Parts: sequence; structure tokens; C-alpha cells
Amino acid sequence: MSGRDFSHPAIADLRLRARRRMPRFAFEYLDSATGTEAGARRNRAALDAVGFMPAILRGDLKPDLAVRFLAQEYTLPLVIAPVGMAGAIWPGAEATLAAAAARLGIAWCQSTVAAATPEDTGALSGPYGWFQHYPVRDPDIRADMLRRILAAGYETLVVTVDVPAESRRERQRRAYLAMPPKPTLRMATEMALAPAWTLAMARTGAPRMQFAMDYAKGKGKDAFEHAGRIIRGYPDREDLKRLRGMWRGPMIVKGVLDPGDAAWLKAEGVDGIWVSNHTGRQFEAGPAAIAQLPLVREAVGPDLPLIYDSGIEGGLDILRAMALGADMVALGKGFMFALAAFGADGIDHLIHILGADMTANMAQIGAASYADLPGRRIDVDPA
Ligand SMILES: Cc1cc2nc3c(=O)[nH]c(=O)nc-3n(C[C@H](O)[C@H](O)[C@H](O)COP(=O)(O)O)c2cc1C
Repeated sequence: MSGRDFSHPAIADLRLRARRRMPRFAFEYLDSATGTEAGARRNRAALDAVGFMPAILRGDLKPDLAVRFLAQEYTLPLVIAPVGMAGAIWPGAEATLAAAAARLGIAWCQSTVAAATPEDTGALSGPYGWFQHYPVRDPDIRADMLRRILAAGYETLVVTVDVPAESRRERQRRAYLAMPPKPTLRMATEMALAPAWTLAMARTGAPRMQFAMDYAKGKGKDAFEHAGRIIRGYPDREDLKRLRGMWRGPMIVKGVLDPGDAAWLKAEGVDGIWVSNHTGRQFEAGPAAIAQLPLVREAVGPDLPLIYDSGIEGGLDILRAMALGADMVALGKGFMFALAAFGADGIDHLIHILGADMTANMAQIGAASYADLPGRRIDVDPA
């Protein structure tokens, strides 16, 4: 065990260190949900209510944590979720995360609104890279974006459909984060209090959502606003069908909660469904995402690949999702906290603590493989 196993044994510890090292506006952009943040709390309570009957007298269990998903082997069933402007949360985040995913054998999904282009990261993540796409209305831009994503080496397309409008995220507003960010005295003070972040930012330069900006007209604020309009495509079912027809590689649809939507998507030939409520960042009054996961699994049958995210805080949460029908589990904030806390080493540390937590809990449950988890699952009172 390393010193970090004692000082930072959980994501909660990485979050605290990340908060100390980041300017407030960047931390609140990462950490806040919308409204009273009840959606995020509901996720936590629902995850805590997923229990397992402990097993005894099972001998020495050495669970295999590796998975095969869409024809690719992964050392753990883990995805680094797409995080817009990750490079503003921690400088150079996209390249660091893409390389870490390939090094550690987990999946990495780059956001359309990343501070890096597909060309910047495609070769770094290799077969572990997926690309998240916001359906774009302009047919020429859409076709060119898809061409570039594929040419950069990303074969798996993740289409996010749960952002029909911008969310208000009041805590982020209280931190005076404007879009595009405007340099203010408040911002300069916060940056001075976060020297590690500021020095790293001086090396990488100010982040821009470069992929969308490549298609934007005008300069400065006008270009930023135009880029925002380009990616805000207000997609409908026809757009989804069109995209399915255009993309020949695996296509996963992200942000699904309603089993009826899941059944429709399966019928349209998508290759995977990503159950997520954006951890309450978009809407606070929806159901806990984990409560919808078994309903979606039931609607699509046993074979359609499912990914789960929203509120995962440790290895046990990953097992909870695997028990309820997920094939892969994604974390957004967890990876960003780890990166902001310790740079690239933080990602290795996070993978280490998640793997150790999964192994320890699988022994308690008596599970030699993920297939053993559903049989031991019970409902428990959230503490
Ligand atoms: C700062 C931030 C930015 C995000 N940007 C995107 C995005 O650009 N595209 C997308 O599909 N999801 C985005 N998400 C959602 C994540 O992909 C993921 O669904 C969510 O963070 C998972 O919950 P967790 O953070 O509790 O692990 C973002 C999340 C955060 C925290």
C-alpha cells in the first residue's frame, strides 16, 4: 500500500484535494448539479438502497474484474465519461485522460465540447477511445465532424440526447462563471489562490471548445456563441435515425432513463444504451438513474450492451450497477477529481482504489464474477 492509500483512500478525499487546488469557478463548474441538487441526492440515496446478501464459507475468491465490451477487452468495466471543457477543469485534461485510458486498459470518451479536437487525442487513446457527439443540425458540419472523428481513429460514437436545453446550475452561477468565461478581478484572485492550476494553464494556454470552434464564424464572443449554436441541434427521432444511417461503427445513445425510449432505440439498431441522468446537472426532478437501470435492462433484453453512470463514488457503486444490468460503468467527476488532485498519477490511484474496493466487496458478496452479483442482490434501507 502506498501513502495515498492512507491519505486518499476514497473519491471523497480526492474531491477535497481537487477543491483546494482549483479556482472556485472551475470547481463549481465541475461539481454543481441544478436547482436544489435534489436529483444528485436522490441518486445517492437510491444507490445506497441497493444491497447484497453477504456470503460465508466460499473459500478464497479471486474475482476476475476484466470485461469484453463491443469487441474490445478492458481491464475493468470502466469508462471515463465525456466532460465538456475538461481542459478548463484541469489544464491538458483531455490528452492526459486519453493516454491514461490506453495505459490502464479502460475506455475514454471525449466530449464534443472538449478543449481538444479528435485529432489531438485519437492516437493517444487508440482502441480505448470513444467520441461523444451532440447531434448537429447543419448537414455539412455534421458530415464533416463525423468524418474527422472517424479519421482520428474513434470508431465508437456516443450520441448524447439528454441536453434539450441549457441547465441553470445555480451553484455554478453563484461562482460567477459566465460563458464564455470573462476575465475578472474575482477570477484572477481565485487563480492566484490555485497556483498549481494556474501554472499548468500558463503552459497549455487558455482552453477553447476547439472542435466546435473550427466551424464557428466571427471572432471572440461571437465565435463562441456561434459554436454553441452549432452543437445545440435540438435533435428529434428523425435526427437519430439519420445519424444511425450515417455512422457505420458502434453507436451508443447516452442519457436514457425511460424504458420506452430504450426499446425504440434498440429497434432503430443502436449498439448500446447509456443510462444516465447527468447526475442531476440538467434536471433535478427526474428519477434516480440507478432505479431506471433494471427497467431499461428489462425493456431491451439481456444482450444489448448497457452503460451506467450518475453518482458513482466507489467500487461498491460499480458492483451495484453491474448487478442491475450494466455492462460498463462510467464516472465523470471521479476522474476529474483524481486528475485535479494528483495529475496523471491520480488516475492510476483512482483505478487502484476502485479495483481494490471491487475485489474486497466481491469477496464479501461471494461473487467470483459479475454474473454472480444479481443473485445476491437485495434491497436495504439507506443508512
Ligand atoms: C463538468 C461536466 C461536464 C460534462 N459535459 C458533458 C458533455 O460534454 N457531454 C456529455 O455527454 N456529458 C457530459 N457530462 C456528463 C457526464 O458525461 C456523466 O454523465 C456524468 O458526469 C456522470 O456522473 P458522475 O459525474 O456522478 O460520475 C458532464 C459532466 C460534468 C460533471
